[in-house]
Amino acid sequence: MTDLYAVIGNPIAQSKSPQIHAAFARELGYDLRYEAILAPREGFAAAVTAFRAAGGKGLNVTVPFKLDAFALATERTERAEQAGAVNTLKFDGGVILGDNTDGAGLVRDIEDRLGFALRGKRVLIMGAGGAARGVVLPLLHEQPASVTIANRTVEKALALERRFAPFGPEGGDYARLAGRQFDLIVNATSASLTGELPALPPGVFAAGSLAYDMVYGDEPTRFLVHARQNGAAQVADGWGMLLAQAAESFLLWRGVRPDIRPVIGMLRGR
Ligand code: ATR
Repeated sequence: MTDLYAVIGNPIAQSKSPQIHAAFARELGYDLRYEAILAPREGFAAAVTAFRAAGGKGLNVTVPFKLDAFALATERTERAEQAGAVNTLKFDGGVILGDNTDGAGLVRDIEDRLGFALRGKRVLIMGAGGAARGVVLPLLHEQPASVTIANRTVEKALALERRFAPFGPEGGDYARLAGRQFDLIVNATSASLTGELPALPPGVFAAGSLAYDMVYGDEPTRFLVHARQNGAAQVADGWGMLLAQAAESFLLWRGVRPDIRPVIGMLRGR
């Protein structure tokens, strides 16, 4: 029987996951079905139960259900615990395994596809919401020289500093970045969705630096335009991370990590 997977969210029509996983399956010669499920806001658990009853093997979970998925999981990976949210579920007998592949996706995209080694680098994460929280530890695991978290609402950056205290990220506001330089600046804010730019002081892009926006779209984001004009050597939008987190989910389900490079050109510009 053909194995069944899906992405679940509300709304869901905009999701690229069905296209992405169909491309991965083609690349690897797998026979699998991948659907999109629109679940009612109060109906996540019921929709998951129905999907499992229909033989579903795994789900990608998107807005607004990542916390519901965290609660529903009977077991969770360490990185899901650390992120405090679940974007991938795997069903195995009675076990519902919850994972979070966002941070690993970002790291794999930066290191493997973009060829940017994180070890010894000065890393700045902008933002302190769910997107930022999910990538702090995966970035720290690569042994950068430092990880700094800047946020408009400083208390949220300090809360992340405390949460990950044993590993030593530093939290603060944007003004504190004045006079400092970073090799990697990750935009984990939602500012790009509204065409806004976080209040970065001048001079933060080090020579050879990479600017990475977790947001993806048809046009370069305001942050990436700003980065290019202000000394970043390389810029990347969130398409690669979108694909790489999907590849990590595929790896969890099927034991093989698809190559995202053939797929990225297919998605961009659609
Ligand atoms: P997500 O789950 O995508 O992280 P979120 O939890 O709503 O979403 O967090 C959004 C993040 O983007 C926050 O860090 C927010 O800053 P505040 O905590 O100060 O609200 C940040 N953000 C949104 N718009 C911004 C802007 N125009 N400038 C700077 N930061 C912005």
